[in-house]
Amino acid sequence: MLDGKKILVGITGGISAYKTASLIRLLVKAGAEVKAVMSSAAKEFVSPLTIATLTKNPVYTDFFNPENGEWHSHVKLGIWADLYVIAPATANTIAKMAHGIADNLLLTTVLSARCKVMVAPAMDVDMFQNPITRQNIDILRSRGVVVAEAAEGELASGLTGKGRMAEPDDIFAQIEQQLAVVQDFSGKNILITAGPTREKIDPVRFVSNYSTGKMGYAIAECLASRGAQVVLVSGPVGLKPVNKNIRLIQVESAAQMYKACVEEFPHCHAAIMSAAVADYTPKAAAPEKIKKNGEKEFTLTLVPTPDIAAELGKTKGANQVLVGFALETENEALNAQKKLESKNFDFIVLNSLNDKGAGFGYDTNRVTIVHRNGKTCPFELKPKTEVANDIANELLQLLK
Ligand code: CTP
Repeated sequence: MLDGKKILVGITGGISAYKTASLIRLLVKAGAEVKAVMSSAAKEFVSPLTIATLTKNPVYTDFFNPENGEWHSHVKLGIWADLYVIAPATANTIAKMAHGIADNLLLTTVLSARCKVMVAPAMDVDMFQNPITRQNIDILRSRGVVVAEAAEGELASGLTGKGRMAEPDDIFAQIEQQLAVVQDFSGKNILITAGPTREKIDPVRFVSNYSTGKMGYAIAECLASRGAQVVLVSGPVGLKPVNKNIRLIQVESAAQMYKACVEEFPHCHAAIMSAAVADYTPKAAAPEKIKKNGEKEFTLTLVPTPDIAAELGKTKGANQVLVGFALETENEALNAQKKLESKNFDFIVLNSLNDKGAGFGYDTNRVTIVHRNGKTCPFELKPKTEVANDIANELLQLLK
């Protein structure tokens, strides 16, 4: 979670500039506010429009706008940022940084930055091994610049060796570390279910629902960045966990999700059941594709799936916390209260499909947390990353 963190990304002219687009996406997704400065060579590799679209901010490339003379203050940018990350950092930029050369906006901003500066070197193997580059990197390190080590592998030149830019995930993890999010969940193992389940009808069809997993994945990232070891049991979604503290178990059906959760829960301090589990599954999946038989109606017999949350609620130990979700379309509060009791949740996160901007597929959610003692905490409509933080804060109170 990088909520509210201000990150300035400097992009210099290297082929790995395309990977910086992914890094920016990760930062924005984690809640950071991102601005970018590009050198003129960088613009040859990735378009300012791409970067502006991803950062949702204009990109700074020159000291001033030649059209209207508007001044782009490197001093302001340097004061604004909580962290200045230069990725990729070419051998040329690293050399200039080491020797105080400031011949473009990106470099003047380095000189005036009050925040920590990080570089992700990217260059060919021979440039990287060159003693001048080695020395320049050492100079930067000795002045407190954080170096996201280059990786080994195939390089754009066709050579193989050390010099390729660290992967966006790795740089992201180092940024999180630098911005030192409070590790208040350290030592806690948390199980999270997310996404929909798919219940197989035949080899080409299934019963499922609209869940995208966004809320569950946001909770997983939030808790992991706050130090928890997270086991994320996920149905099929188009998301990938980023934080290294998340162990992903991919499942498809409710039965598979049940098995994974029953195995994992005894080793966990808490479980958060955010998955939209199918309540029914076809009685038997047809081994071959079901063909049209010309009849007007087709009947599929469904049988109940195991209730995962209810099972964990039954086996829950005195020191374990179980958190449920309820997505309702009517009688929200009453239904949530019933689920809270019947499944032995410690608290339940209620969201209503009647709220605009909340529910399946949105990046925002509006939830009310209902506790066992009847205490209810309504929250505003906000990004799912922030909702995740609110849920984590409630959970932390019970784990203490
Ligand atoms: N849940 C579960 N296993 C199931 C069904 C639900 O773990 N087989 C969990 C969900 O992840 C959620 C909570 O139970 O945390 C409530 O889910 P929901 O679908 O709202 O409730 P149901 O019990 O299925 O009731 P209904 O669909 O009738 O509202």
